[in-house]
Amino acid sequence: MTSSPAPGPSHAPPASCGAVPPPSLFVCVLCRLSADEEERSGRRLHDALVAAQQRAGTAAVRIVPAECLSNCNRACSVAFAGPDRWTYVYGGLAPDSAEAVLDGAVRYAATADGLVPWRERPDILRKGLIARIPPLATTQEP
Ligand code: FES
Repeated sequence: MTSSPAPGPSHAPPASCGAVPPPSLFVCVLCRLSADEEERSGRRLHDALVAAQQRAGTAAVRIVPAECLSNCNRACSVAFAGPDRWTYVYGGLAPDSAEAVLDGAVRYAATADGLVPWRERPDILRKGLIARIPPLATTQEP
């Protein structure tokens, strides 16, 4: 019978190593659907996402305002990203689509790698997919 080393300080994660942070939901707050908007549509979508998350009582994703995701022609724009996960960029989102976007982000957070089956994605995200980018660890392999 082999014995494994007893757990001790050398096997414990460092004190600075906490739980893996939740994936991020970046929301472009500069997106606008017209030049004469009193409040930018991207900001409205961001604020609606924060409110929807509070109503849902979930901390599955971290909602982060971003200043341009270089997808300005297909506003409003968001991105889902996190360590060891695929990154997804979406556009053409309406400011009042927060519930569906949050639903998609929570589904994204529930996966190990960010890959949500197509049929399980909210319709607005199926239509608004702009790009997907492999996890960083994959791109660093020789
Ligand atoms: S202003 Fe929103 S993507 Fe550029």
